[in-house]
Amino acid sequence: MRLKNLLGIRDLDTEDILQILDTAVLMKPIMETKNKRTNYLLGKIMVTLFYEPSTRTRVSFELAAKYLGATTTNISTSASSVVKGETLIDTARTLQAMGVDIVVMRHPMTAAHRLLARHLDAVIINAGDGINEHPTQALLDMFTIREKKGTLKGLKVVIAGDILHSRVARSNIWGLTKLGARVVLAGPATLIPKGIGNMGVEVYHDLRQAAVDADVIMGLRIQLERQKSGLFPSLREYNMLFGIDERVLEVAKEDVLVMHPGPTNRGVEMSSEIIDGENSAIEEQVTNGVAVRMALLYMLTREGVS
Ligand code: NCD
Repeated sequence: MRLKNLLGIRDLDTEDILQILDTAVLMKPIMETKNKRTNYLLGKIMVTLFYEPSTRTRVSFELAAKYLGATTTNISTSASSVVKGETLIDTARTLQAMGVDIVVMRHPMTAAHRLLARHLDAVIINAGDGINEHPTQALLDMFTIREKKGTLKGLKVVIAGDILHSRVARSNIWGLTKLGARVVLAGPATLIPKGIGNMGVEVYHDLRQAAVDADVIMGLRIQLERQKSGLFPSLREYNMLFGIDERVLEVAKEDVLVMHPGPTNRGVEMSSEIIDGENSAIEEQVTNGVAVRMALLYMLTREGVS
């Protein structure tokens, strides 16, 4: 791996991304073996440091590390010295002083990981920095699309919903465009950042129009915890205009892949029928997330592993 840390998809070139996806293909079968254990990361220590809530990302990293034989530990910031006023850098240095090799962090501040990377020798992996990037989510999304469709080149991928507050959307835009997909964003004008067209995407404010002939439709959660009020009238109204349902799928390609990073709000950004329907890859995304994180952990720590 050319890079020491994974801070954002923005830093990766096409070759880096493909190398991670190819390695994940090799990692996935390990999850299906009886003992689910290898020695690739034996003796390595990974800590998950999450300053924001998470279910799947944190557990996914933990399991990925365990399948590779690493030792893992988790810090819940509400029960740590963070509440006593310790700075981020001091917390991270403390971990390093105990021999931690990999710090997987989720933090509300954009680029918090870059700050950490300047002060630490340990490998830093971004598990979400505010509204900026969520690189491993985008990698697992690209992996899932490539696994299902063979390639990303030339595919029409619609990302629908709260683009403004979505680090998942931002990382996917960087990655999907690098791999040659056509990225179309759909959402209310208040939830699409100004100037996002400069990232090489098309913007629609009508979901049905955006979804015509789509190969992939990715729904996003409305990030109420990050929003000021008044960006849309009500969740019911949002669902009527931007909810992904049968009417939207009707205009897409017949084998359209429906994706969502989770957690889903059933009946808000997507109907239950679609979430559980035959086009949905939502559960496979979760499985693939472990494989992609195994690949990354392996690649970022390969040096020095005998
Ligand atoms: C996403 C996140 O935290 O950015 N979730 C995830 O990691 N799977 C999306 C979200 O919270 O809506």
